[in-house]
Amino acid sequence: MKMESAKRRIAVFASGNGSNAENIIRYFQRPDSGAEVTLVVCNRVGAPVIDKARRLGVHAEVLTREQINDESHMMPLLLDHRVDVIVLAGFLLMLPTFIIRSFPDAVVNIHPSLLPKFGGKGMYGRHVHEAVVKARETETGITIHLVSEVCDGGEVIFQASVPVDVSDTPDDVEAKVHELESRHFAEVIDDYFFRNK
Ligand code: GRF
Repeated sequence: MKMESAKRRIAVFASGNGSNAENIIRYFQRPDSGAEVTLVVCNRVGAPVIDKARRLGVHAEVLTREQINDESHMMPLLLDHRVDVIVLAGFLLMLPTFIIRSFPDAVVNIHPSLLPKFGGKGMYGRHVHEAVVKARETETGITIHLVSEVCDGGEVIFQASVPVDVSDTPDDVEAKVHELESRHFAEVIDDYFFRNK
């Protein structure tokens, strides 16, 4: 008889490069971890995250915005994969409300600034780092937060900061923020949702 894995199940939603998705997949592939990534959802055909996931043996679905917003399409997918926790890792669409309501306190996002600074509409990816440089901030960082129905407004579960030097370009800031993301995101997810739970 085939034993079902007792691990909790994570779906990662991503739109682009997928460096965070890859780190999270690898982190939870350790044999002693209490969870595993079993599904990646991507809304952009050809995004690097799709190959990254598939190469690591994770099922990746490429869906249109319409499919993602269609409850009768998405809920069976998430239920079939028996998803417990949803991780948004560079996912550029608004998550439909029916998903947020179906996974209470179980959807987490990473934002590449110290929220509430540089959050809200239009603040994603490079726009954030450009705004940080323009505002002559002396530090920036990452915010990992639960996803509520308010954009960038859910409970903050973790922040980490890094100095911004006067000579830093948006690329420099992005590199610093990425380093923080790869150091912390998977670990924070594990601590918050799975360790000793
Ligand atoms: C990250 O900076 C993340 O904080 C933001 O989008 C970026 C995604 O990068 N939400 P990647 O696709 O994980 O490489």
